[in-house]
Amino acid sequence: MEKVFENEMKLEFISKSCNEAFARIAVAAFASQLDPNLEELQDIKTAVSEAVTNSIIHGYENKQGIVKIHCLIKGNEIKIEVSDSGKGIENVDMAKEPLYTTKPNLERSGMGFTIMESFMDNVEVESIIGVGTKITMRKVVKSKETTESQNEFELVK
Ligand SMILES: Nc1ncnc2c1ncn2[C@@H]1O[C@H](COP(=O)(O)OP(=O)(O)OP(=O)(O)O)[C@@H](O)[C@H]1O
Ligand SMILES: [Mg+2]
Repeated sequence: MEKVFENEMKLEFISKSCNEAFARIAVAAFASQLDPNLEELQDIKTAVSEAVTNSIIHGYENKQGIVKIHCLIKGNEIKIEVSDSGKGIENVDMAKEPLYTTKPNLERSGMGFTIMESFMDNVEVESIIGVGTKITMRKVVKSKETTESQNEFELVK
């Protein structure tokens, strides 16, 4: 039986907004071993950026805290957990609604969760008030061969 490829990495950084770019690029670099196409890589970067920004802005409200990222690759799927020990979300169902934001005055559009859900295959939110929030996102990266042969097929059609 063929062995399933597995790999794992963890990151921890201070909740400074300048670390959002670092986190998104580090996760993209790790994800690149799945050989994603540009669109898939962009989707992953955007989703990570939204989750990390939420931890910094809402979780810690710009006070200093630690944001943690745990990435796991299994076969052609990447699982990305972004967690904080910040204030937590009162009502997760409501928070996930498009356009819902608790910070409208900060030019937030309330689209972060909607973006994560549209760019990743699956998004789970666990949150406890005063304890923190963990976002778990999964995405299957279609192998390059599949994408390329699909493109060839489309050209022939
Ligand atoms: N890590 C978190 N800790 C605490 N609250 C959070 C966290 N992530 C999200 N929230 C809450 O969920 C709401 C919705 O999040 P979402 O990312 O969809 O929108 P937003 O951050 O307000 O706006 P946008 O992402 O469009 O800039 C936030 O306004 C905030 O109240
Ligand atoms: Mg957001």
